[in-house]
Amino acid sequence: MAIPDIARRLSELKKERRALILAHNYQRPEVQDAADFVGDSVELSRRAMDEREARIILFSAVDFMAETVAILNPGKKVLIPSLGARCPMARMLPAETVRLWKSRYPGIPVVLYVNTLAEAKAESDVSCTSANAVEVVEALDSDSVLFGPDRNLACYVQAKTGKTVLPIPENGFCPTHVLFLREDILLARESNPDCVVMAHPECTQDVLRTADFVGSTSQMCRYAKECPAKSFIVATEVGILHRLARENPGKSFMPAYAGAVCPNMKRNTLDLMYQVLRDESNVVTVPSATAAKARRSLERMFEATR
Ligand code: 13P
Ligand code: SF4
Repeated sequence: MAIPDIARRLSELKKERRALILAHNYQRPEVQDAADFVGDSVELSRRAMDEREARIILFSAVDFMAETVAILNPGKKVLIPSLGARCPMARMLPAETVRLWKSRYPGIPVVLYVNTLAEAKAESDVSCTSANAVEVVEALDSDSVLFGPDRNLACYVQAKTGKTVLPIPENGFCPTHVLFLREDILLARESNPDCVVMAHPECTQDVLRTADFVGSTSQMCRYAKECPAKSFIVATEVGILHRLARENPGKSFMPAYAGAVCPNMKRNTLDLMYQVLRDESNVVTVPSATAAKARRSLERMFEATR
């Protein structure tokens, strides 16, 4: 079936089933276009919590984000189009590794990036996202924190807050964001000296030093709208270019590296969205004891960033 036909059928089914479709900024263009709301990880969680009418949330992103939404919305059915949409960075920090680090550093607060599975979150004091990591760490009454799983985000937070931010594990990373190289950005800048560089804090410190703006995916979208520049180099997953171009006619956006694709994010297709909503399959569940502890960590994040 052609994409416009599936999109039309999905939109009819959505009304019939009282579903809300949420999609991350890295989703395929046609998936973003079919969504009721497109955003970064914290915005998607907030949008899901604000929802009063929907019975189902069809959540087009990767597993840890879907788990987060399921934890925060126990009364709603959360469906993920592809069960294969799994973030490899989230798997670099299993719950037992968090417990091990806590036993090595008793009394030091544990801040975990939302890019972790629920079992690991349940071991943390507070969660954070790329949009609020600096604010969350600043709000803690401690000069040192254990922070995982992204070593690059940990370094960025340390530089911004001046606190000691110990990465757990020592070398967690996003396989997509480490593809960006400082040299590629400097070369692109040479041929376009007026352009503005935006980068995600999952990039290496070398790349972040070349950036004019560092932020979450939606913070980049807002910055691109407000900034008077006409041309931008973007150091994050290439799916965001669709939204940037749609919201900013007359401005141009160039990927810092065109091969920066998160294959997991791309597993969600319109076809799968239709099938999963039709069958109400791929329901995201988290065991209740784990969910209760992970929810506390997420609530502390919201309290720290009100
Ligand atoms: P954002 O919260 O900035 O959208 O980032 C999520 C993510 O997975 C980045 O790789
Ligand atoms: Fe995980 Fe990186 Fe993909 Fe984000 S871009 S979902 S951190 S693998």
